[in-house]
Amino acid sequence: MHFFQYRSGELYAEEVPVKTLAEQYGTPLYVYSHTTLLRHFMAYENAFDGYPHIICFAVKSNPNTAIIRLFAKHGGGADIVSGGELHAALKAGIPSRKIVYAGVGKTEDEIRFALKSKILMFNVESENELREIDRVAGNMKTNAQIALRINPDIDPGTHPYITTGMKKHKFGIPIEVALEYYKLASKLKNVVVVGVHKHIGSQITKVSPFVDALKRILLLIDELNAQGVSLQYLDVGGGLGISYRDEEPPVPGDLAKHLIPMLKDRNLTLIMEPGRSLVGNAGILVTKTLYMKKGIEKEFIIVDAGMNDLIRPSLYDAYHHILPVVRTKRDKILCDVVGPICESGDFLAKERELGKLKQGEYLAVMSAGAYGFSMSSNYNSRPRAAEVLVKGRDHVLIRKRETYDDLVRNEKIPAFLK
Ligand code: LLP
Repeated sequence: MHFFQYRSGELYAEEVPVKTLAEQYGTPLYVYSHTTLLRHFMAYENAFDGYPHIICFAVKSNPNTAIIRLFAKHGGGADIVSGGELHAALKAGIPSRKIVYAGVGKTEDEIRFALKSKILMFNVESENELREIDRVAGNMKTNAQIALRINPDIDPGTHPYITTGMKKHKFGIPIEVALEYYKLASKLKNVVVVGVHKHIGSQITKVSPFVDALKRILLLIDELNAQGVSLQYLDVGGGLGISYRDEEPPVPGDLAKHLIPMLKDRNLTLIMEPGRSLVGNAGILVTKTLYMKKGIEKEFIIVDAGMNDLIRPSLYDAYHHILPVVRTKRDKILCDVVGPICESGDFLAKERELGKLKQGEYLAVMSAGAYGFSMSSNYNSRPRAAEVLVKGRDHVLIRKRETYDDLVRNEKIPAFLK
């Protein structure tokens, strides 16, 4: 459920007409709803209330510090995958002991930064990385709290590009050899084994893959206990899907109903790393129609947002609803909604039935709050979009639109070309 609704034919973000925002801040524009973000976060908090837990927001889904801040203020932690995300999480006020750090390619500098910041734990993805963390921690005369990221070999039934927990993927340590790795970790001088981690994929629309993966992880925990290794943290990752078109994914309450009974009497703190299910439906991308173009085979609506602003349709063939910001009675057309980028893959929708539009009208690309701005780029030298947070009648610019100067700011023309 989200707070982007029509009122008398006009699309509102909470109490503000989206058209007003588009006119004030320009387009392309990302608009987020505070009430929606909070509602989604509290759905997790309430569902897992009564079982020790930390909701670590997956920063990669939307790294705007205002959004991270909102979750920090309500007790959230952060799941990070880079030094940049650690910087953003700390700046936004996430307590370092609520930060977990995954990713297969942590650099020495990043490891040092995380150790200096005293994060809760590294989710370690390989033997090399484990030894590197041990070495860096030793040099810094400190200890690193670690969990091993286990690859449980579960197919979550989602898009291949966002499936992560099967044998063929680069992520995690194969469950078959997990015990050996735990033994190795417990021998290393500068690491302290505190947990286990798994994350099997994203946009998962059933509870069963979560249950199946957890069953495997719990068997591993039992074996570890038998060998005298006891863990404090069980990090089950993120991955809960949202409704883009007509999917009916489980809600956090459904997950809790299935997972909590499995964890009874285990004395573990549960960590979850939701990204999409917190921010996805809490954000839209507002764009303006530039031209209507009648091709020989089909019609194109050319808008001012492109694949550089929202790459999901181009990259995953992802579906996003596209709604007119002002709804009137219109004749229907079948069209592709495309951006200004010089690539045939630059589209926001293909073969979509939409009402006939005029030049200069606004459209809202729905469910764009996760992996929208965060995957945007400057391709075709396009300044990245502005981001606005709406709370009731208030709206605040939480990231200003980039300028042409921003695009060349870090570049330098060498003397020999002057
Ligand atoms: N934890 C880890 C270790 C992850 O790798 C991810 C996402 C998450 C948590 C959060 O997953 P979520 O709750 O958002 O499903 N760009 C793709 C999604 C890539 C997901 C990468 N990892 C997309 O636009 O669909």
